[in-house]
Amino acid sequence: MYVTLSRLDFILGLVLFPAWLAAALLVRRQAGRPTAGRARRTARIALVLLSLALIATVARLVGFIQLANLDWVFVEDRRAISTLALLLPGALATLVLTLPRVVSAARRRPADRDAAPSEAERAQAASVRTVLPPQITAVGALGGFFEKFLPPHRSTVLNLAVGLGVLVLAGVLLTVRARARVRRFSRGAAPVRRSAGRTWGVRLGTTVVALGAAFGLVTFGINDSRLPGTFSMMQGEPDYGGGPAGGHSHMAGGPHLHGGTGTTAAVSVDSLKGPREGKPDRVFNLTAQEKQVKLASGRTFTAWTYNGQIPGPELRVKQGELVEIKLTNRLSGKTPVTIHWHGLDIPNGEDGVAGATQDAVQPGQSYTYRFRVEESGTRWYHSHQQASEQVKRGLFGPLVIEPAKQARSVNKADKDVTVVAHDWETPGGSYPAFGNSDVLERRTAKAGEKVRLRLVNSSNLTKTFALTGVPFKVTALDGTDINKPGEIKDELLVVGGAQRMDVEFTMPLSPVRLTDAAAKDAGIIYSPDGKGDIEPKLDGPEFDLTKYGEATGTPFDAGSKSERSFKLTFDDWLGFYNGKFGLRQTINGKVFPDAPMLMVKEGDLVRTKFINRGEEDHPIHLHGHHMLVLSKDGKKTTGSPVWLDTINVRPGDQWEVAFKADNPGIWMDHCHNFVHTGLGMVMHLAYEGVTTPYSVGGKAHNRPE
Ligand code: C2O
Ligand code: CU
Repeated sequence: MYVTLSRLDFILGLVLFPAWLAAALLVRRQAGRPTAGRARRTARIALVLLSLALIATVARLVGFIQLANLDWVFVEDRRAISTLALLLPGALATLVLTLPRVVSAARRRPADRDAAPSEAERAQAASVRTVLPPQITAVGALGGFFEKFLPPHRSTVLNLAVGLGVLVLAGVLLTVRARARVRRFSRGAAPVRRSAGRTWGVRLGTTVVALGAAFGLVTFGINDSRLPGTFSMMQGEPDYGGGPAGGHSHMAGGPHLHGGTGTTAAVSVDSLKGPREGKPDRVFNLTAQEKQVKLASGRTFTAWTYNGQIPGPELRVKQGELVEIKLTNRLSGKTPVTIHWHGLDIPNGEDGVAGATQDAVQPGQSYTYRFRVEESGTRWYHSHQQASEQVKRGLFGPLVIEPAKQARSVNKADKDVTVVAHDWETPGGSYPAFGNSDVLERRTAKAGEKVRLRLVNSSNLTKTFALTGVPFKVTALDGTDINKPGEIKDELLVVGGAQRMDVEFTMPLSPVRLTDAAAKDAGIIYSPDGKGDIEPKLDGPEFDLTKYGEATGTPFDAGSKSERSFKLTFDDWLGFYNGKFGLRQTINGKVFPDAPMLMVKEGDLVRTKFINRGEEDHPIHLHGHHMLVLSKDGKKTTGSPVWLDTINVRPGDQWEVAFKADNPGIWMDHCHNFVHTGLGMVMHLAYEGVTTPYSVGGKAHNRPE
């Protein structure tokens, strides 16, 4: 619904300017016609064009009202200015002043078609009241035409002032011009024809000036948008979310981390590490290497892998264990890598973000991560260096933390299977797969067995899964258990990029099928004998996480007093980023590294509101914290508490979440569609007093996105 309205609004915005321009030109031309017959014909064409422009305007207005009805936030600033302030007044004036005059001119049956129009007729056709309204509307329609070129959500007052200023100026100039014309006609002068040479001279001159200006603007845009070779992650504008703007230590050498000790030393992310001492309970070696790999269908391609596998090996650990992972980079050339532990709230120094918490690991080098895993559930890991390229090519894998106590029956499954859904780019195109299987796969499960599927979406885009043939429960979201999940059937499971969803069912005698809606012929069929068929059911309602399971106590809730509250609006605009032109995804009108830095102090309860006014999904991932969902689209969650590390903010969505700032560091907070990440949809959560010695670019060629 939102996407349709938004797109329609955009298209009408583009169409309205040429429509009004054509109508305005024809309306004006009427008066200059040499004979009554031709004047009437011109009036008729003008009438048609005016009607079309008016209809398109009404359509835009209706769409605008519907968008505003969803929520005013979707139309405030850009859309409100271009529709209400710039377009509407002219269109109304046209309706009241111009239209009746053109209608009467179009109806008038001249006694002699070849005679010149009467003076009165010509005067009326040329009058300011007739010609000015459509002209003004055309000028106003430029607002809609260039709307996407204006950075959204910024300088609303300025945009409005500039828009109205242009409108008034154009109004004055066009009035002067129209009056002069009226005077000419009243002097009885015949319509003037400029010499062809002069007309072409003027046209050529105008074109050269316009092209020159456009070239200048484009060059400026390209250069202005280029990112510097090296810069700090922390150069975004601090947003204190209504809290005290104390210690942005980066600028002021601000206060220390834990209040009250009287020191003023800043804390470096380098000191925020997991335990350096002690024998690890688990040791893993992950080697980044290029590998010729094969999907189940036989399609082969060259992947970047951990340990030569796609996806990388599943790491299984137990809650409470001290884990040590040694990353070795054996990629050829100049491809540095890292590992980020997605969804793990570990110390910041182990977070694996190149340029924020470490330097990227160069080919031939190694790096060791050590941390104790305090939580449990389905997580995953992936490189956080040039992630848009590296994750797509295979540098990721699942990470499962089994709970310390298998006390709750919900945690016991006879089959506990991780299903990583990824889109593999092969020379023949992109193929959705479960793990490395892009075909229909058959597996066996005995009737009565409890099967847990841990769905991980490692791709950029939102995935929709269907689990067909059995009632099931959604037992965890982003690895956190759902309280008392109820049984559902045939509901479609929408999992945003980077999100996880655990589902559980008891194996029946008949087959059960898991399908990715993007690959209807592939998937997994479970059956007792490894045979049998079942079609996926892809037309069910979508699973709604805001009212599933049963409510239970949480450390804080929608009623809790928060120390900070942030409002983040996602939008798009046509512009330059790092020298390239295209549709850019913005956060409060900005892109990385200018996107806001969310400043917090340890201990703060932080509320965040996410609003998506664009047309694409934004799975927003906050590192190092879990966010409690408070409401969606203004409605409070009523079921089980939902804790997520990634919120899939879809077009038209409004989510309100809260989290406790209890893990000091410099944490990335970004859209996990890495295409958007690469285009600047990146911000940070920065704790007061924490600094990083690392920078983006530099010798290590750190590129977190
Ligand atoms: Cu899974 Cu910053 O990412
Ligand atoms: Cu996005």
